[in-house]
Amino acid sequence: MNKETVLTGITTTGTPHLGNYVGAIRPAIAASKNSHLSPFYFLADYHALIKCQQPELVRQSSLEIAATWLALGLDTSNAVFYRQSDVPEIMELTWMLTCVTAKGLMNRSHAYKAVVAENETGKSQDSDKGVTMGLFSYPVLMAADILMFNAHQVPVGKDQIQHIEMARDIANRFNHLYGEHFILPKAVIDSNSATLLGLDGRKMSKSYHNTIPLFAPEKKLRKLINKIKTNSLEPGEPKDPDNCTLFSTYQAFASTSEVDEIRKLYADGIAWGEMKARLFEQVNEQVYPARERYQALLEDPKHIEAELLAGAKKARAISQPFIQQLRKAVGISAISI
Ligand code: TRP
Repeated sequence: MNKETVLTGITTTGTPHLGNYVGAIRPAIAASKNSHLSPFYFLADYHALIKCQQPELVRQSSLEIAATWLALGLDTSNAVFYRQSDVPEIMELTWMLTCVTAKGLMNRSHAYKAVVAENETGKSQDSDKGVTMGLFSYPVLMAADILMFNAHQVPVGKDQIQHIEMARDIANRFNHLYGEHFILPKAVIDSNSATLLGLDGRKMSKSYHNTIPLFAPEKKLRKLINKIKTNSLEPGEPKDPDNCTLFSTYQAFASTSEVDEIRKLYADGIAWGEMKARLFEQVNEQVYPARERYQALLEDPKHIEAELLAGAKKARAISQPFIQQLRKAVGISAISI
């Protein structure tokens, strides 16, 4: 039986936080151990260049993200774990796809339209202010990431669904022109994975500056958890678990029976200080073994590099012959004499 290929990319701009962990990393690590799947996970460092022109930050983020995934027990014997820039065929495919992608399709991209809308509400005369060609055509790069490995499933957040639909459109167009080379990918939204709330009660997100780093040192983790916003109900007053950031965060790290127990404590009026202490214990219990491995890995970057190169080798065993096939299909292979 042919395994389903599952593929997802992680843009290397920033340090993974608890929201990334619960929403994307944890389910992906679990899938890496599923021998019925063929998972591909990669550091999207070309994507990082779109948003971040600080080389040190991109480098540091690549290191931290790779270390995070390895520390959490990513099974690299089943999953292919690589750095996008180590697979140059992706760039070559990006150009082939760019040449069959309608500009009008890119005009409709939410990410691009959001910037234009922002410019138009401001004083700027130029609605394309700050829009690079990288930002504009970023869905084509993402399509190349996906189509290079003929992924069936692409686990992503809701904000990325449109990009997967665009990848399908682009694949369709290419197949129509040059023959059936690409499988049409599907976005998968994991309904079991939780969306974590941040310190201020909004969705935990780097852009809101309300995150808790996944591998914050213990002291820092406790401090940040203590900062999570609550209402001003006193100890002894019954509290509503269903509109509470502390509770929903706890839920993302606990079994059903543990959650039921906490629910009772809410009804009995648990003090916020006590709940924060319990939440800290719960989260820390789950992350500390990986945090130790993470620290050890950061001190051994050679090991991380070796893992990534081994992943790239596996990826290129697929991408190299496939790009030859595609070159031939579009008419840029060697002249046959
Ligand atoms: N654009 C995605 C994000 O910002 C990251 C990404 C890049 C990706 N290439 C991908 C996700 C391919 C899935 C498939 O989250």
